[in-house]
Amino acid sequence: MMRVLFVCLGNICRSPTAEGVLRHQLREAGLAGRVEVASAGTGDWHVGRPPDARTLKAAARRGYDFSAQRAQQVSAADFTAHDLILAMDLNNLRDLKRLQPATGRAELDLFLRRYQADKDEVPDPYYEGEQGFEHVLDLIEAACAGLVREIKGRL
Ligand code: 4NP
Repeated sequence: MMRVLFVCLGNICRSPTAEGVLRHQLREAGLAGRVEVASAGTGDWHVGRPPDARTLKAAARRGYDFSAQRAQQVSAADFTAHDLILAMDLNNLRDLKRLQPATGRAELDLFLRRYQADKDEVPDPYYEGEQGFEHVLDLIEAACAGLVREIKGRL
């Protein structure tokens, strides 16, 4: 079993989208039972809440349903509970490096850069309009395809 954790700031826009999209792509690839997928935020403001209404709306337009997901805050223990922790932006990556214990086994990386050499951050859509949420979905769907290829190679 491989365990993947996506991390953003609030865990209501970008990382829950990545969690839901990866789950969907793994189901389509017949790998749903082989990978555990989760998401968390570096901040705690939205803990316990479902994804942002705009995230759910943009997802629904593409046939996804992320409404059962609930926000949680990332902790040092996540570095032992997961194999791969993927940050949505450079601030998230910096905050995660501060939290990373010396003994944690999880590999930490910047999500987009790992799968697309010319990209780095998934931009925060929180203060954007609908277009921002569409863009987040485009970036995440493309990068998740790379992640599924990596997972196939690792299992
Ligand atoms: P996320 O977006 O990190 O993609 O979930 C945000 C959600 C909430 C806030 C900022 C970004 N906030 O400031 O509450």
